[in-house]
Amino acid sequence: MENRFAVVLAAGQGTRMKSSLYKVLHPVCEKPMVEHVIDQVQKLNLEIIVTVVGHGADQVKQQLKNKSQFSLQNEQLGTAHAVMQTSEFLKGKKGTTIVLCGDTPLITAETISQLIGLHEKTKAKATVLTAIAKDPTGYGRIIRDNEGNVGKIVEHKDANEEELKVSEINTGTYCFDNEVLFDTLTKVKNDNAQGEYYLPDVIEILFKSNEKVSAFATNNFEETLGVNDRVALSQAEKYMKDRINRKHMKNGVTIIDPNQTYISDSVEVGKDTVIYPGTIIKGQTSIGEGCQVGPNSEIANSTIGNGTVIKQSVVHESEIKDQAVIGPFAHIRPSSFIDKNVKIGNFVEVKKSDIGSDSKVSHLSYIGDAEVGTNVNIGCGTITVNYDGKAKHLTKIEDDAFIGCNSNLIAPVKIGNKSTVAAGSTITEDVPANSLSIARSRQMNKLDYNKK
Ligand code: UD1
Ligand code: CA
Repeated sequence: MENRFAVVLAAGQGTRMKSSLYKVLHPVCEKPMVEHVIDQVQKLNLEIIVTVVGHGADQVKQQLKNKSQFSLQNEQLGTAHAVMQTSEFLKGKKGTTIVLCGDTPLITAETISQLIGLHEKTKAKATVLTAIAKDPTGYGRIIRDNEGNVGKIVEHKDANEEELKVSEINTGTYCFDNEVLFDTLTKVKNDNAQGEYYLPDVIEILFKSNEKVSAFATNNFEETLGVNDRVALSQAEKYMKDRINRKHMKNGVTIIDPNQTYISDSVEVGKDTVIYPGTIIKGQTSIGEGCQVGPNSEIANSTIGNGTVIKQSVVHESEIKDQAVIGPFAHIRPSSFIDKNVKIGNFVEVKKSDIGSDSKVSHLSYIGDAEVGTNVNIGCGTITVNYDGKAKHLTKIEDDAFIGCNSNLIAPVKIGNKSTVAAGSTITEDVPANSLSIARSRQMNKLDYNKK
């Protein structure tokens, strides 16, 4: 929308995180905090979005790419100083500017819209989003006059005893008349406990010069949680997880225990799929309808069809089609394609392999760099010997082949259509179609040996 702008503050180091990773890049449900904020802001179709970067500027830019413009704040002199750095994009423009913090990952587009709505309806010069915190420690406090107007915001470190008792907090999200904002920023001083230029001081300056200041009090504190340390990070993770799980449940997914189900923002799940506890689904993953996932499974960057069962297993960067049964205790490694009706049983590892429909690898096998046809039966303990210490080689097993238990298939090698490999074989040469191959030493029985 024209004449509406956003500034996202993300230049701070985040000392309280005690981390070598810059604060706003810490992930919540797999996505960096600042990206959660930007993704919500993007839904509002604003004219310009500027992110203020400083600490970790390159990494933040790399993460957000073209989702935002960037202004650099070389020295972190405070949130007012940070906003001032966006002059190159915003100064002199008529319109409304929304300011948000990159460390409030739960804020939603709906709440920001409501804030803009109130700001424009009341024709305020500034509108602050406030919330009631059970424990307001660390937040700026909203100080109202006798008529309930917001007169100023006092930072925790600058607050007196009375002010510390206030539970209404500054969420760090605001709307401003853009021209008034840039005029007022120059009046902000840094004579406070932290020696910083505080953006919330703009509110007091405007109030004292009789400009209209509004406040929009959300009743949803969770959404405004500011993450300054790892304790808050774990709370944000929980709130975000609950939000994501609720979305899926509303869409028809059964989640047996939402407290123990971890689904990232980017994941899609079809209806009537049941997710059992201890399951982590992340990255660009899509799961079809009527599946059963978990317990204790991890699926990342994978596509799963309909009616597929994945129990106690790990699936990474792979595709599994309809009605397959995976696990318990299977490991599907990257670049695997598992067609419909396939069974991959316990203690089977599949890597960079295609397994055709109706095939079975039921127990204790390693299938790597293989192309397996349809309706193949791979017996217990079969190994595709794909690596010679230098290079990986292909094993081809054609349709309807039967591989006996405990076979080694030394790649490169091909097992033809409808052929059988006898149990215990070490296959080093191709097996033609329709044949039986036995590649093991003959059994010798020494009669009466133990009578001696
Ligand atoms: C800030 C608010 C506080 C509010 C809280 C809500 C100020 C002075 N205080 O406190 O009233 O209750 O957020 O979560 O604004 N940043 C910069 N440049 C700077 C300083 C900060 O870009 O020079 C960025 C940080 O990266 C962060 C955001 O601004 O994303 C807020 O800074 P932070 O230091 O976390 O402020 P709080 O103490 O949480
Ligand atoms: Ca903060």
